[in-house]
Amino acid sequence: QADTVIAPSLLAADFARLAEAAAAVEGAVDWLHVDVMDNHFVPNLTLGPPVVKSLKAATDIPLDCHLMIEDPERWAVGYAELGAHNVTFHAEACADPVTLAKRLRAAGSKAGLAVDRDTPIEDYLDLLPAFDTLLVMTIKAGFGGQSFMPELLAKVRTARTHARTGHLELRIEVDGGIAEDTIAAAAEAGADAFVAGTAIYGAADPADAARRLRARADA
Ligand code: DX5
Ligand code: ZN
Repeated sequence: QADTVIAPSLLAADFARLAEAAAAVEGAVDWLHVDVMDNHFVPNLTLGPPVVKSLKAATDIPLDCHLMIEDPERWAVGYAELGAHNVTFHAEACADPVTLAKRLRAAGSKAGLAVDRDTPIEDYLDLLPAFDTLLVMTIKAGFGGQSFMPELLAKVRTARTHARTGHLELRIEVDGGIAEDTIAAAAEAGADAFVAGTAIYGAADPADAARRLRARADA
């Protein structure tokens, strides 16, 4: 397994001070997680390409764009072209995930596939060679601050076993309710990238909170 990735979710930051939120974790984290929501795929609305473009100019931290949107075929490549390090779209929203993954890689980003709370992983195992990252939701997508659902780690275990058996280089990212008391279980299940919103931006010192999460994941 690759080195641990800690990815603070800007969803829990002050949206009027995103550049400051990025600066607050610089040097302590690996990716900056950017939740794009369209009020169709999920009942919440956040930000889109103009904000990602500004974030790209404001920070050197690699941007991890999590698209909780319908019609990712129309929008996802645009985020890659803006310089996102990784672009993750939802399996539930895409009829042909492998083709979109190829387009993302051709546009210069990593390709990520996300599975929401109620989506079984088994249907997607054969698609994983086309992806750099699998994002397993550990809550129902849409809002920060929800409680971690440990039963969803079964999907992480299944995917990690599948990746090992097939010698796939696959990042497995968990998103939702990741905190000091839940991150070790996710790491043990085989996750190696950890999104945390509330646990990082809800803390008085976000960089220190990120370092403590990393220590727990690596323990
Ligand atoms: C929710 C988002 C998450 C969210 C996690 O759908 O995908 O990235 O920010 O927030 P916490 O870490 O507070 O559960
Ligand atoms: Zn997310």
